[in-house]
Amino acid sequence: MKKIAIGCDHGGVELKSEIKNFLIKEGYEVKDFGTNSTDSCDYPDYALPVAEAVAAKEFDFGILICGTGIGIGLAANKVPGIRAALCSDTFSAHATREHNNANILTLGQRVVGPGLALDIVKTFLNTEFEGGRHQTRIDKISEIEKKYNK
Ligand code: RB5
Repeated sequence: MKKIAIGCDHGGVELKSEIKNFLIKEGYEVKDFGTNSTDSCDYPDYALPVAEAVAAKEFDFGILICGTGIGIGLAANKVPGIRAALCSDTFSAHATREHNNANILTLGQRVVGPGLALDIVKTFLNTEFEGGRHQTRIDKISEIEKKYNK
C-alpha cells in the first residue's frame, strides 16, 4: 500500500485529521508530520520535512494543508524534485497527476469542505502519470531547478 506523508499549519489541523483518518481506514501507511495544535505557527516549518521526505522517496506522496493551501505549497515547491499542486476540484487533481506527475497535493481548509477534500485526495492518489510529452515538460522544470541550484 502507498505511503503518505501528511502535514499542515494551524489553519489545516481539522482537515488533516479527517484526511489522515480516511487514509488509515483505507489501508494507507501514513506519517503525520504535525502540527497537531491550532496555536499559530509557520507553514514552512511543516512543508519542509514533508517535502524533504517525499523528495527523498521515503513516501509515495505528500499531502499538505494550510488555510488556503497556497503558502504551504509555495514552501514545498522550493525543495528540488517537489511538484506540489494546489487542488480545489477533482478535475485539477486528476490533471495534475496525469500531466504534472505532482508528488504533493496541497489543500486549503478554508477553501474546500471535508467531503470535496476527500474526493480530491482519492482522485489524486488513484490517478497515474501519463509520461510521454508530459515527462519532457517535467524534465524542463528540473532544468530550471538545476540552473538556480548551483
Ligand atoms: C494562516 O493564517 C494562513 O496564512 C495560512 O494557513 C495559509 O493560508 C497561507 O498561505
